[in-house]
Amino acid sequence: MSDDIQNILNQMTLEEKAALTIGATAWETTPIERLGVPRLVVSDGPHGVRRVLDNAIPSGQSLPATCFPTASALAASWDVDLITEMGEALADECIALGVDVVLGPGNNMKRTPLCGRNFEYYSEDPYLGGEMAAHFISGVQSKGVGTSLKHYAANNQEHRRFTVDARVDERTLREIYLAGFERAVKQAKPWTVMCCYNRVNGVYGSEHEWLMERVLRDEWGFDGFVVSDWGAVHDRVAALAAGLDLEMPGPQPDRVQDIVGAVRSGRLDEAALDRAVAQILDIVFRAAKTPKGQAPFDAGVHHALARRISSESIVLLKNAGGLLPLSGSGTLAVIGKAAREPYFQGGGSSHINPTRVDVPLDELARLAPDAGLIYALGDGDIIEGVDRALIDEAAAVARRADVALLYIALPAAKESEGYDRADIDLTEQQVALIQGVATVQPKTVVILNNGSAVAMDAWIDNVAAVLEAWMMGQAGGGAIADVLFGRVNPSGRLAETFPRRLEDTPAFINYPGDGDTVRYGEGVFIGYRYYDARGVDVLFPFGYGLSYTTFEYANLRVSDDLFEDTEGLRVWVDVTNTGQVAGKEVVQLYVRDRAARLVRPEKELKGFAKVELAPGETKTVELALDARAFAYYDPDFGQWVAETGDFDILIGRSAGDICLSQRVRMESTQTLPCRLHRLSTFQDWMEDPRGVEALQPLIERVMAQLAAQSDDPTQSLPATALDWMKYLPLPMLLRFRAGLTEGSLEEFVDELVAQVSEM
Ligand code: BGC
Repeated sequence: MSDDIQNILNQMTLEEKAALTIGATAWETTPIERLGVPRLVVSDGPHGVRRVLDNAIPSGQSLPATCFPTASALAASWDVDLITEMGEALADECIALGVDVVLGPGNNMKRTPLCGRNFEYYSEDPYLGGEMAAHFISGVQSKGVGTSLKHYAANNQEHRRFTVDARVDERTLREIYLAGFERAVKQAKPWTVMCCYNRVNGVYGSEHEWLMERVLRDEWGFDGFVVSDWGAVHDRVAALAAGLDLEMPGPQPDRVQDIVGAVRSGRLDEAALDRAVAQILDIVFRAAKTPKGQAPFDAGVHHALARRISSESIVLLKNAGGLLPLSGSGTLAVIGKAAREPYFQGGGSSHINPTRVDVPLDELARLAPDAGLIYALGDGDIIEGVDRALIDEAAAVARRADVALLYIALPAAKESEGYDRADIDLTEQQVALIQGVATVQPKTVVILNNGSAVAMDAWIDNVAAVLEAWMMGQAGGGAIADVLFGRVNPSGRLAETFPRRLEDTPAFINYPGDGDTVRYGEGVFIGYRYYDARGVDVLFPFGYGLSYTTFEYANLRVSDDLFEDTEGLRVWVDVTNTGQVAGKEVVQLYVRDRAARLVRPEKELKGFAKVELAPGETKTVELALDARAFAYYDPDFGQWVAETGDFDILIGRSAGDICLSQRVRMESTQTLPCRLHRLSTFQDWMEDPRGVEALQPLIERVMAQLAAQSDDPTQSLPATALDWMKYLPLPMLLRFRAGLTEGSLEEFVDELVAQVSEM
C-alpha cells in the first residue's frame, strides 16, 4: 500500500470505510470530499460504453456510444491487434463520456451453445478466450481507463444464474473455466474483476475465498479490486471477509451499517475492511489520473473501426462454386427482416445506444449502385409456426433475381442475457423460408446474425453460400456488403464448434442440472475437446472458416525436437497464398500429449497467428510455446505438471483439419512432491523414480526367490503376471504375491514410504 493511501486510510472513520465498499449509486462509488477521494464511475460494457446518467437499472437510456461487434464476433476475428485497437477506442469513449472503468470483458467459457449470454463471451477454448480478454484489457487500460474481467467464475448458463451451484472438479476448473481468467489477469492486469452470481462448489462467487484470495490474488498476483456482479452479494460481511471489495449497486445504507456493526462486534476483522478500502482507493486514484469528459470522441472514426472489426469477424462457412464474391451487377433479391432492421447486439446489460446504425439493404445499394435490388420480408416477427404467404412472396422475388441474399437473424426473444435458449434452431419460419427460396433460386446466400452456434442441417445442403455475421455491431450492415462484394476477403474463423444437433453437444446430459445443482460431468471435455474424444461429426469445427483465396502450409520446423520444459519450444511454419486475391489466414497450433498420467484431450490450442498475404506471397509464422503449453493440472499434486514425454505439434486450418505435424520430446525438470503412501499400488511405485530406487533391493530379492522356486530359472515373469500385480497396494503384493513374511508388512511399507519422502 502506498504512503498516500495509508495516510487517507488512517484518517477515515469506520463509517467512511464501510461506505466506500458499497456503491453510492448504481454506477458510482462513494466520494469522500473532506479527504479528496473522488467517486469512481463504472459502466457496462463490454462491446460499447453504456453510460447511464439517471442511475436507473436495467433500462435507463444510455448516452450514444459506438456499438462494436459482440465478443463472439470479436473472437472469430482471431486478431489480437484488432481487439487491442477496439479497446483503445472504447477507452476514448469512456474518457469522453466520463467513465473510469468499463464492465468487461466477459470471459466465461461456452460450455453449451444454449447459454443465452454466449454472444458476450469469446470461446469454448480458454487459450483463445484468454488471449482475446487480455488484449481487450490491454487496449482499454493503455489509455488510463480500467476494465472489469467478468464473471468470475463458472458462470456458464443463464438458467437459474443467481442461485445455481456449478459443481466442477478442480482440474476442470483450472484447465478450462479459470484458465482464460488466469491468462488475462497475468498478462494484462485488469484493474478490477467482477465475481459471478452463481455458486461454485457450494459457495457463492461473492463469498468464495478460495477463488478471490487463494487463486486470484495469491496465485495470479491480481492487485486490483473485486466488485460484485450487480446484486450478487448475499451476506455483505461474509463477502468482505472472503475478499469481495466493492458491492454494487448502491446505495444500501443498511449494508453499510452491517459492516460497521460487524467490526464493532468483532465479527469482522477491521484489517479485512482496510484491505478492501485500500484496494478501492488505489483504483480510484489510478483512474483520477486520466481526466474525463473534456472532449467528445470521434464517432465517425469509431464507426469505421466497428465496420472493419465486423468485416474481419465474419466467417464464410460455405461458398459452393465460388458464388461469392458477387460482381455487384444483375438483380439481387434481398430477403429477411434483418436486411432492413439489423440485428446487431444482444439483450441485457450490454445493450448500447448506438451512434448510428448501418442498414444492410442500404449498404448493398451503396456498394453496388448498378445492381437491381428487390426486397421481400420473408420471416418478419414470426417466432412460432409458418406463414406461407410470406414465403411464397419471397420465393417469387428470388425467382426473378440472379442471386438471393437471405438475411436471417435469430429473434432477440430466443437469445439474451437472463435466460437460456431452448434449442439451437432458427425459427420454423426461417427454416421454411430458406428451403422455399433455395428451391427456386440455386444461387442463394444465407447471412446469419446470432450470438452462438445454430443448427443448419435442415437447409445447408440446399443453399450455395453461408456467411456467419454474428451480432455484428452498429456497422455490421456495411461489413456484410464489404464481404459480399469482395471489398474484404473474409478471414473470420469459428471460435466455437457448430454442432449438427443439440444432442451432440458436450454438456447435453449435464445441462441445465437438477434444480440448483449443475454438475460439469463432461469435465475438461468441452467444445472440440469433446468432439475429438468422442469422434462426433460436427457441422463446422472450431477454427473453421473459408476465404476467397487458398493457403498452403509447408516446412514445419521446431527449435529442438528434444527440449527441456524450462526452455520452451519455438515453432515455425511457412504459409503461402496460392490464390488470386490477397487474404488473411489464421494459423492454428495445437499440442497433443502422446501419453499422460491423466486422461487428456486429443489436442489443445496453444498458439495462433493471423497473417496477411498477397497472392503468391509466402510468410514464415513463428509461434512460441512455454512449459504450460504442455502441462495439465494435476489435482493430486495441486499444481500444473509438464510431464516428460512425447508430444505432437499440430498445425491446422481448424481443429478438424490438421495439415502438418511434428513429434517432439520434452524433458521435465520439475520435481514433484512424493505422493507414495502405504496403499499406493505397485504401479504407483514404479512410476515414481524414487519408488523404483527404494524398491530395487526388494525386487531383486523377490526375483531371486521366484527364480529359486521355478523349474526354469532363466524364465522371466509372464507379462500377465505383471498386469495382475500392478494394481495391488504394496502390502498386499508383498503378502500374497511375493510371499514375504517380514514382521509387519504395513510397518515395513511405512518405512519405505519414509525413505522415499526424504529423497
Ligand atoms: C450483469 C453484468 C453487468 C451488471 C451491471 C449484471 O446483471 O451480469 O454483466 O455488468 O449487471 O449492469
